[in-house]
Parts: sequence; structure tokens; C-alpha cells
Amino acid sequence: MASRAGIVRWIFSRNRSAVAGARGMSTSWWRGVEPAAKDPILGVTEAFLADPSPSKVNVGVGAYRDDDGKPVVLECVREAERRVAGNLNMEYLPMGGSIRMIEETLKLAYGENSELIKDKRIAAVQALSGTGACRLFADFQKRFLPDSQIYIPVPTWANHHNIWRDAHVPQRTFHYYHPESRGLDFAGLMDDVKNAPNGSFFLLHACAHNPTGVDPSEEQWREISYQFKVKDHFAFFDMAYQGFASGDPERDAKAIRIFLEDGHLIGCAQSYAKNMGLYGQRVGCLSVLCEDEMQAVAVKSQLQQIARPMYSNPPVHGALIVSIILSDPDLKNLWLKEVKGMADRIIGMRTALRENLETLGSSLSWEHITNQIGMFCYSGMTPEQVDRLRNEFHIYMTRNGRISMAGVTTGNVGYLANAIHEVTKSS
Ligand code: LMR
Repeated sequence: MASRAGIVRWIFSRNRSAVAGARGMSTSWWRGVEPAAKDPILGVTEAFLADPSPSKVNVGVGAYRDDDGKPVVLECVREAERRVAGNLNMEYLPMGGSIRMIEETLKLAYGENSELIKDKRIAAVQALSGTGACRLFADFQKRFLPDSQIYIPVPTWANHHNIWRDAHVPQRTFHYYHPESRGLDFAGLMDDVKNAPNGSFFLLHACAHNPTGVDPSEEQWREISYQFKVKDHFAFFDMAYQGFASGDPERDAKAIRIFLEDGHLIGCAQSYAKNMGLYGQRVGCLSVLCEDEMQAVAVKSQLQQIARPMYSNPPVHGALIVSIILSDPDLKNLWLKEVKGMADRIIGMRTALRENLETLGSSLSWEHITNQIGMFCYSGMTPEQVDRLRNEFHIYMTRNGRISMAGVTTGNVGYLANAIHEVTKSS
């Protein structure tokens, strides 16, 4: 029952709207809306773009740049686009997305000759890149296991928190990064896995952890998988950087393959934003490994059902590009070569940044720059030092000290090292 005060407020607001309408004024529906906080990652790009300085450097967002600092369209993508242009129709995709794209995408995660794929045990839908895949999964988790929680590593990609928050799944955290060693807190991680209630959900980065660039070793993954089995936990892998850790997508799927060998039923978010450079095409895949084909059919139908009122069905263009590349052996080889090229350039920049800092006489250890892998270096710089980089040197990065190595080039690495040395030398 509505309270008396509630009814009075309702009558009052109706009268006010009627008066406003009669005077030809419109009601200010959104008066109470405050501006949202800036996104900690994409907000950095906004600030960078607004800076008129000619010496500005953006190592904020995780987006690959060539050695001239320019965005890259891969050759395999250019060729696939030539094949798409004017030759294919732009009809709606099915609710679950492009069947061909999904088939090829599953092979990358589960293995070219996976029995699980042959047995049709994987429920998979095309998703709006990795974010969309995570969000679909989070909504699915909430709908079918409303009392479950998600364990998220500390730290993680900032948007993971938003995704599970907006899906109303309670979040817990687990130890991951060890600030002193700038490496993995394996003991802390294993303790948290052991202490979580049986059957808990864990978000794991399959490779090239964002933001730390720190991955468990193969041996450690085996121990994690074993402990997950003991505890009956569910692993949800976010694989946004397949290919960027080692330069080889097959090797970067190792963690997932270990879990599969151990018989886990996993979930997986895949994205072509980074490894095909299809950032703005928003093409990815969500898969959930099921007990059998019947369960997979049911799960897929429910995932589609969640997508339908949100965006109906996914966009077609990126999916066509991916399908063409991955189903043509020559184009696929070209893609593999280009992924390796991107990963190698980043590795080269890690060495160059470290060498530059050492040559400047920094008394700090910068070993972690070359020990960490993937697109990011978790530098260990404080938010205040990051602010100085921005204010004094026009260098833009996220306030957690993450450097997107993909934005470092032969042309800016010296400038970057010098600025980092300046803001860190008294620490
Ligand atoms: C990043 O971490 O920089 C990327 O994944 C881009 C994003 O959407 O945050």
C-alpha cells in the first residue's frame, strides 16, 4: 500500500506537471541526474584527445599502435573486407550470431580437433566483443543461479566490476598480484581458492592478465585446476588477449586446455578486438561448456533469450571478416604472422623501455617490465606519479600505473623513460 506521504507527493507532482504543461513548459525529468564518473580507462583517451600538446603520448587504453603510433588495420582484415564488399548481403544474423564465426572461434579456445566441439557440448553465441560476452554470462549466472557470487582477481580490468555489478551478481575478490615482487601471489590465490565455499564462480584471465601482465606458469595453472576440481569451483575465462602473451594463439590457450583436460565445465569470453584489431567492430563469443548436447541446446537458447531484448542479434560485418579469415588457410596464416608481429613489437618495446630507464641511472628495479607479458606493464607507479606524468609531460595512462606497451614506439620510448625517471627518482 502506498503511504499517505507518497500519495501526497504523487498528487503534487501531477499538479506541477499539469501546470508546467499548461504554461507550455516541459517537465524537467532528469533534474536529479548527476554526471557519471569518468571511466578510468576510456576517460584517459578523452583527456589525451583534449590535450593540444604536440609531445603528448597515450599509453592508456589497450589498443595496438604501429611504430609510428598509428592504429593498425591488419592485412588479413583488409583482404577479408575486400571479399565482403559488395559480395555479401547484410541480412540479420540469427539471434545467436554467425554460425561460421562461432565454429572457428571455438576451435581457437577449445582446440582445432576438440571432441567437445564434435560432440556439440558447447553452448556458444556471438557476443559484442569480450565485454558483451562477460555481460551475457553475468546475466545468465544471475538468472539461473541467483544466489551465486563471482570471485574476481585483485586487481582486474576495471570494467569487470561494472559488468557483474550491473548484472546484480555479488562480488568477492581473490588475491592475484603481489606488489612487492611485482609477480603472482600464488600462495594467496591458492588460499582464496581453497577457502571459497565449494562450487564458487571464479573469473580468470586466460592469458596476458589485464592490468598486471602477470600470468600463472603452466605448472601453477595445473595446480589451480586441480584445486578447482577438489572444490568443485566454476572457472569463467576471459580471453581478451589470445595471441598477445606468447605471439601464438594456440600457446595462449594453454590454461583453458589444462582445465579441459581435467574435465571442468568452463565458461569462456573471447574477443577479436585486440588480436584481429577489430576493436570497434565489437565481435566476440561467449561459450559455456555443458554436460551434453541437450544441455548445450538449452543453455544456448537461454543465452539468446537474454540477448534478444537487449540488442536482438549481433552485428554482421565483423563476424563476416572473422569467418573469412579463419576459414581460409592462407588468410589464417597471414593472421597468425601478424599477431606474432604485434606481440614481438611489444616485447621489443619492453626491452627498450627498461634499457632506457637503466641507462638514465634509475636506482629502481625495472626488471618487471620485461618479465611481465601481453599488452600491459604494471609499472608500480603511484597515482600521484601518474598525475605528474600527465601534468608535466603530457603522458597519459591509467592511475593504477598501467602502461599500455602497445602505445610505446621507437619515437616516444626515450621521452617516456625520461619522464618516468623524473617522477620516480625520489621514491
Ligand atoms: C583496456 O583495458 O584498455 C581495454 O580493454 C579497453 C577497454 O575497453 O577498457
